[in-house]
Amino acid sequence: MKVLILGSGGREHALAWAVARSKRVTEVVCAPGNGGIAQSARCVPVNFKNVDAMVKLAEAEQPALTIVGPELPLSLGIVDALQERGLRAFGPTRAAAMLETSKGFAKRFLQRHNIPTAKYAICSTAAELERAIDAFHPPIVVKADGLAAGKGVVICTSRQTALEAAHGLFSGELLGEAERQVVIEEFLEGDELSFLCLSDGRHVVPLLPAQDHKRVGEGDTGPNTGGMGVYTTDELLAPAMREWIMRHIAEPTVHGMAEEDTPFRGVLYIGLMMTARGPQVLEFNARFGDPETQALLVRLESDPVDALEACIDGRLGEAELRWSPGASACVVASSAGYPGAYKTGLPISGLGAAAHVPGVQVFHAGSAQVGPQLLTSGGRVLGVTAAAGSLEEALARAYQALAEIQFEGIYYRRDIGYRALRGKP
Ligand code: AMP
Ligand code: GLY
Repeated sequence: MKVLILGSGGREHALAWAVARSKRVTEVVCAPGNGGIAQSARCVPVNFKNVDAMVKLAEAEQPALTIVGPELPLSLGIVDALQERGLRAFGPTRAAAMLETSKGFAKRFLQRHNIPTAKYAICSTAAELERAIDAFHPPIVVKADGLAAGKGVVICTSRQTALEAAHGLFSGELLGEAERQVVIEEFLEGDELSFLCLSDGRHVVPLLPAQDHKRVGEGDTGPNTGGMGVYTTDELLAPAMREWIMRHIAEPTVHGMAEEDTPFRGVLYIGLMMTARGPQVLEFNARFGDPETQALLVRLESDPVDALEACIDGRLGEAELRWSPGASACVVASSAGYPGAYKTGLPISGLGAAAHVPGVQVFHAGSAQVGPQLLTSGGRVLGVTAAAGSLEEALARAYQALAEIQFEGIYYRRDIGYRALRGKP
């Protein structure tokens, strides 16, 4: 069968790699893809802000399955549009993707279904916000309602800075576009956990829990990024806690969406804060995480296509996911300056030697093949990913591979996984 993957980042490279390993798959097409993906899949250009263009491409390619990577096409209703034309697509409908595309919708949904989340207020005007804010003690979290590529959350240490951040969101100064709604939230403390599940609209199957490092600097300092690294270990979440999250958060979410006639089929990414009063939902994403997907897929032993098709067909109850035991890590190599301004077009070398490190997969997030040269083309350039029997070993492999790779200004955090390693002898 032919599989079409929409997207151009490290997540899509990992998906293309995993799907190509399925015995059932004969061809992988990625649109638009990137320089790394082009080494193993056919890449075709497409603008994923344009639903008609994506549908036209899918109609021409006639894939047996389309997998949607990023949130933007989901928010535009790509899955609805493909399904209307009889094309099988993995991902939620536009209505179900609202769990990610509107924070106001997600917060109201969580409250309606008694799912634990931070106390909040949703405001449509600055005056409303000024009244609501008095019920919150600093630090106060101020969030844009809509998609903001990780830039829509401001943690404010005073009432005044929270008001300024909210004004920045309403006026459009902060994100370029004016927000119609702003969410304010109480600040939660704890370790964050990425809890991803597959769902067919009724059943929920958890993937491996993962921990993402969102800040650019070591020790989890500095500005937020799309994710600088992530790891999974068998010890990250105790079985009883996993059960609790399934019973009180994941299942009620999927059942709630079904009750409201917007069944969620796809990957439900639950961003959790593990607080002293238990896990609380920080956010939902309606798609695979990036770079979580890279670290998850290197441990997936069962066929990914079977699992994704079971989601589409409502057969997830019968599906079985098998994972390699141990751990995995993905360390992101980024351009100097990221998440601020950075240069692109810099030659990348050493990938051949890096690929020879056992257990390592180098997934490309922002690279472009120009003639014979592979060049940097984004802020996050590579996700060097390794699976092994232990987290120490997975990290050692990833860092060994990274030592082989060069491009001008290459930056990566050297402390990925430190929270799991801390306290170990
Ligand atoms: P979100 O897009 O809602 O996940 O927010 C992005 C990041 O902001 C999260 O991964 C957290 O690190 C942080 N964050 C969001 N909401 C809160 C909160 N209520 N308390 C503390 N940190 C938060
Ligand atoms: N790793 C965070 C995200 O995919 O949104």
